[in-house]
Amino acid sequence: PKGAIETDVLVVGSGPAGGAAALFLAELGIPAIMITKYRYTANTPRAHITNQRTMEIMRDMGIERQVEAEATEHAQCGDTVFCTSINGEEIGRILTWGVHPARQADHTLASPSSMCDIPQTYLEPILVQNASKRGTHTRFSTEYISHKQDDKGVVATVRDRLTGEQYEIHAKYMIGADGARSIIAQELALPTIGKMDIAGSMNITFKADLAAHVSDRPSVLYWVIQPGANIGGIGAGLVRMVRPWNEWLIVWGYDISKPPPSIDDEAAIGIVRSLVGIPDLDVEITGRSLWGNNELYATHLQQGRVFCAGDAIHRHPPSNGLGSNTSIQDSYNLVWKIAQVVKGHADPSILETYSTERAPVAKQIVTRANKSSREFVHLFDALGIRPGMAPEDMAKEIEERKAPTKAGAKKRADLVTAMDLKNYEFNAHGVEMGQFYESDIVVSDGTRPKGDKDADLYYRVSTSPGARLPHAWVGSRTNKVSTLDLAKYNTYTLFTGTTGAAWAEAAKKVAAELGVPLTAVIIGPQQTAEDLYYDWARQREVDEDGALLVRPDKHIAWRSISMAKDPAAELSGALKKVLGRK
Ligand code: FDA
Repeated sequence: PKGAIETDVLVVGSGPAGGAAALFLAELGIPAIMITKYRYTANTPRAHITNQRTMEIMRDMGIERQVEAEATEHAQCGDTVFCTSINGEEIGRILTWGVHPARQADHTLASPSSMCDIPQTYLEPILVQNASKRGTHTRFSTEYISHKQDDKGVVATVRDRLTGEQYEIHAKYMIGADGARSIIAQELALPTIGKMDIAGSMNITFKADLAAHVSDRPSVLYWVIQPGANIGGIGAGLVRMVRPWNEWLIVWGYDISKPPPSIDDEAAIGIVRSLVGIPDLDVEITGRSLWGNNELYATHLQQGRVFCAGDAIHRHPPSNGLGSNTSIQDSYNLVWKIAQVVKGHADPSILETYSTERAPVAKQIVTRANKSSREFVHLFDALGIRPGMAPEDMAKEIEERKAPTKAGAKKRADLVTAMDLKNYEFNAHGVEMGQFYESDIVVSDGTRPKGDKDADLYYRVSTSPGARLPHAWVGSRTNKVSTLDLAKYNTYTLFTGTTGAAWAEAAKKVAAELGVPLTAVIIGPQQTAEDLYYDWARQREVDEDGALLVRPDKHIAWRSISMAKDPAAELSGALKKVLGRK
């Protein structure tokens, strides 16, 4: 209609899921509008752990350095402490997020990118700024109200919160990235499993200089075990670094079956001083809020032309630091598919694979995060702390871990086991890096990533169709790049080796025949990139004359172990499946 606002994709929400979707759409040249309810992006730090997979995505968008510049670097992230208060006794430590020397190697080998800590207050503006600069129209103070859709498009009604005026936005597709209270997920009646508000948490943000107490054991997380620490919340009391070492966030639990506690400044200061363990600590409270812990995921993520992403489809405690990461990764999976359909390269049927591929991830991470939160109970058990115990008894139990007695020795031994279990929360590299897709656009050869080590803790390098393209340093005498850098977000990429040149020829032919972007990469001496350390040869799992077809999101769509009789026919057949073309 005349005067109506029209776009290809409407994104609702500017959090990690929405901000990232807006950026990916802009990067791919798809006209998009992002609306968001508030005047600006997140006003509290919220999610912060940013894993290697997300940083690879930032790298792909050319903003890895921008994110790093605002983040706390990896080396400062991982000397995670369990204590009676920051100034009190230590119960133990665990090297987390890949900071342990052995795990550091796993991280360095797996990815060109480093994990880091960037609170949402810093990350969201980077996503939104880059999205807007590259072409997405961003409208703040604009509230989503409702939508209708038919087989041609979506019409959303939105409200300008400054004027109160309601108007319509017409789009081909809509992405509901409107968070844990998603109206869009509700409107679509997405099927879900689980519950909301299973435990109560409060966040208190504050400023206080704690450098003297923590800089010798730098971490983003300091877990506090003291009376009340096992009620509600996320497993124990948490003092979390926001900026080293003078801005902090406390997460403290409350009993959700009782009326919500009121926390004025005085109460907040009391909690801060108690968890820090300095009764007269000079503190400035900068914010307080209550929130519910959730254990809920959607089993189908879309309906027609409308998709949900982020907390709209998975709701869980911050344990494992998966909230923002998974939200960004949802959008990374979805947006290239929408782009391929809008550009006419792929059949709209491929859009359904968003649910097929991401719903299992939603289930996995919601389950993992809640399990990790519950596994704190082993730490309490090891110490002999039971629910409802009087503070003095609890202190006695904690004290007993020092005793030169059998009971003391048992406590110390049990603490080792309880600490080891926390690796599933803080060193779950397999969960972070090992997402594996099975769907109609992955041409399975019946294989899956293999490995002897625990799949949650350890990432398994694999080129089985469905796996993420392994990282290896390749390049030239003057320029070292990752294999991931060679597969761009705006194209399919075919990887082969020197004796596989016929695949590269086939790729040219197939790209022209199907009218889709398909780039060939030959890895070998004086080819597209050289296998500088022969690490690619060790990881590719196909012969030198084999081929890997990589999707824009760096997942492998299809592979051929060696040269085919008719490479163009093989490749064309595979790519047609990936494009959903009959
Ligand atoms: P997110 O909630 O970030 O964004 C939703 C967006 O939708 C917002 O931009 C909002 O303005 C917009 N919106 C909502 N309704 C709208 C409407 N009707 N119209 C227009 N726009 C609308 N995670 C973690 O890993 N560690 C942590 O410590 C914490 N802490 C934490 C504290 C608090 C208080 C909260 C609320 C959440 C956390 N989280 C967290 C969770 C983490 O913040 C969360 O997983 C991600 O922000 C999810 O990103 P999304 O983009 O999906 O939603």
